[in-house]
Amino acid sequence: MRKFLACCEEIEQAMADVYKYWQKTYSDDQEFSALLGVLVDDEQAHVSQIKLARRLQVNDVFSGSKIDNQAIEALLARARKLLVDVKKVTLSKEKVLRTAIKMEETFNQVHVANAVEFSDPSIKAMFTSLARDDAKHVTTLRDYFEQVFGKV
Ligand SMILES: [Fe+2]
Repeated sequence: MRKFLACCEEIEQAMADVYKYWQKTYSDDQEFSALLGVLVDDEQAHVSQIKLARRLQVNDVFSGSKIDNQAIEALLARARKLLVDVKKVTLSKEKVLRTAIKMEETFNQVHVANAVEFSDPSIKAMFTSLARDDAKHVTTLRDYFEQVFGKV
């Protein structure tokens, strides 16, 4: 359980760092950079939320057995790899948006699945709220994509 939340926290931190990196890369593009800034703040807030949950040290809050550490570790590996990869080549704005949308969609699914599996109401609420934010991110990113490039 502790390990699971630690993984979740690191995923959020990696995404905050990815967005931070893109924000710096696209600092000349005011609108895009501002959008990325909001995402940085959100992901950083997610880190804090999970940190808080970890401090509660609740044991046995899983109501089911569907959560496997392997899946969350795979997601963490993906986020870590993304953080390394984004620094290797400068991605086009279009590719940045497509990548971000794909990641947020995946996180949304995982957070929704996690919320179902927890019996502790505060942890359940936290994952529900994380999922809601991911969904909001997808909408924001898609809207912006369509505004600049047309249909995703
Ligand atoms: Fe997040």
